[in-house]
Amino acid sequence: MPRTEFIATGFHVPARLVTNDDLARLMDTSDEWITQRSGIKTRYWVSDGETGATLAREAACKALTKAGLEPGDLDCIVYCTCTPDHFEPGNGVFLQRELGISDIPAIDVRNQCSGFLYGLSVADAWIRTGAYRRILLVGAEVHSRGLDKTTRGRDTAVLFGDGAGAVVLGPTDDPRRGVLSVHLFADGRHAEKLWVDGPGLAHDPYVSEEMLQQGKHRAVMDGREVFKFASVLMPKSVDLALQANGLTPGDVTLLVPHQANLRIIEMVQKLAGLRPDQVYANIDRYGNTTAASIPIALDEALAAGRLRRGDLLILTAFGSGFTWASAAIRW
Ligand code: UT7
Repeated sequence: MPRTEFIATGFHVPARLVTNDDLARLMDTSDEWITQRSGIKTRYWVSDGETGATLAREAACKALTKAGLEPGDLDCIVYCTCTPDHFEPGNGVFLQRELGISDIPAIDVRNQCSGFLYGLSVADAWIRTGAYRRILLVGAEVHSRGLDKTTRGRDTAVLFGDGAGAVVLGPTDDPRRGVLSVHLFADGRHAEKLWVDGPGLAHDPYVSEEMLQQGKHRAVMDGREVFKFASVLMPKSVDLALQANGLTPGDVTLLVPHQANLRIIEMVQKLAGLRPDQVYANIDRYGNTTAASIPIALDEALAAGRLRRGDLLILTAFGSGFTWASAAIRW
């Protein structure tokens, strides 16, 4: 059975840069609070005409160009997001249309901050079994339009940013390379600790004036609880990725964790037994871009020369659901 290799990566963020001081003009917050609590200094927000699918198209085109491929060479699209452009259909078909292709399957994966790793697991299984050869795996989010940009929403509004990351995946027969393992987890007992209640078909009517007034259409988070679980379960998932492959922290070239909070990333690094130079962080510049954060960070890390052929890459994520996951990849 072949393994799955990362053929190329790409990312795209909107042009509109939003600083912490910009946010302090919209709500009662400060650069000091945001920097100390999260490590975030800037994030990017979409402007008129931009959507999740257009961000994803830009990221995908960059990855395809690096891979030396055309959109028409793809066999399948796996699109990970928790901020879809529309209730239905899924964003995969909108990206497909943006890329000017048709007929190949397009699946949406709705696993929030763990979305990219859930999507990787799906794509990896399809490539290993031979179902599809060239898969475009995308994580893309437009959070900015959904944020409550008043003091009421400040605990979440300062954290999230927009962006897209894409990877082109394919089979390799080289037994020393590729995706070694992906481990996925979920615990729905915590579903309401980070969620958007409505509009939703659990409600009748599924959307109402009252619901909007109550802010049910905004993401609500129990930040402390999310922090507590994330900083324990992400390092555990890293341990598992290493143990499952007979590896140790010393074997890791680079850990690319989901970028939710610099304090969480630093705790994961310490609890997983890694040195700071083994971990990539760019949350200071992009904020939390949910399913896009790992592919954006990965593309940057590659451009910075942080990974070479044969190196060991570990990915880990945690988020709403709760869901969490890790992957081990021999580059
Ligand atoms: O992607 C996965 C999902 N997300 C996460 O992993 C995020 C996990 N959680 C976190 O990153 C942190 O919990 C936060 C950054 C969200 C918050 O940090 P914290 O140290 O846990 O702060 P807190 O929620 O305990 O709030 C401390 C204070 C509160 O005031 P009082 O009650 O102590 O007077 C908040 O009202 O800070 C206040 N606060 C703010 N102040 C200024 C909350 N948001 C803000 C803000 N600016 N933006």
